[in-house]
Amino acid sequence: MKKIIVAIDGYAGTGKSTQAKSLAKYFGCVYVDSGAMYRAVTYFGQQQTTDGSIDIKLLIDSLPQISIDFELTKNGQQTFLNDENITDLIRQSKVNDKVSDVASIHEIRSFLVDIQKEMGSSKGVIMDGRDIGTIVFPEADYKFFLTASPKIRAQRRYEEQQKKGIIETLEEVLANITARDHQDSTRIVTPLKKAKDAIEIDVSYMSIDDVFNVMIENIIES
Ligand code: DC
Repeated sequence: MKKIIVAIDGYAGTGKSTQAKSLAKYFGCVYVDSGAMYRAVTYFGQQQTTDGSIDIKLLIDSLPQISIDFELTKNGQQTFLNDENITDLIRQSKVNDKVSDVASIHEIRSFLVDIQKEMGSSKGVIMDGRDIGTIVFPEADYKFFLTASPKIRAQRRYEEQQKKGIIETLEEVLANITARDHQDSTRIVTPLKKAKDAIEIDVSYMSIDDVFNVMIENIIES
C-alpha cells in the first residue's frame, strides 16, 4: 500500500467526506473527518451548560479533558468523544448552527490541528476539512479543493439529512450552508481557502464516481 497523505478541502456539502472515505478504502489508509472533530468540540461545549449555550472561556479551559477518536465499524466510521459515541449527535441542527462559531476560535483550532498533525505523522491518511492543505498538511502528497453551487450543495445535504431522519426543510439547509460558507471563508483565523497547489474540482454536475475517478487519475498519474 502506498503511504500517502491526501488533503481534501472545500465547501460544506461538496461530498468531501464521501470521496475521502472511498480514497481511504482504495489506498488502505485511515480516513479522518476533521469537521467531525470541530463538531465534537461544539457538542462538548453545549453539554457543559444547562441551556446548551457555549461558554467559550469554559470550553477553552476544558480542552485538555477532550479526547476524540474514530473507529471503523460495520455501520461506517463512528466518532467518539471521551468514549461516548456521538456520531449522530454531532449532525443535529443545534450543532450545525454553532460549529462555525466554535471553529473560528484560535485556541480550539490549534488544539485540533495539533491532534490532526499527529494523526498524519505515520502517513497513510486521507483527511477532509477546510484547512487541511493549507495548515494541517501543507506538505500533503496530494491536495484537492472541491466546490459546487450553494443550491446543489443544499439539495445534496437535504437528501442526506432526510435519509438520516433529520427533519429540516431545503430552505433551512440552504440558509445554514450559506451562513457557514460565509463564516468559514471570512473568519480571521485560517479561513477556508484553496491551497495554491491544490487541484480544484467543481463537482456541481459530476457524479460521485466521476469525482472519485478524477482524483484517482491525478494521484496515479503524478
Ligand atoms: O465538514 P463539516 O461540515 O462537518 O464541518 C463542520 C464545521 O467545521 C464547518 O462549518 C467548518 C469547520 N471546519 C473547519 O473550520 N476546519 C476544518 N478543518 C473542518 C471543519
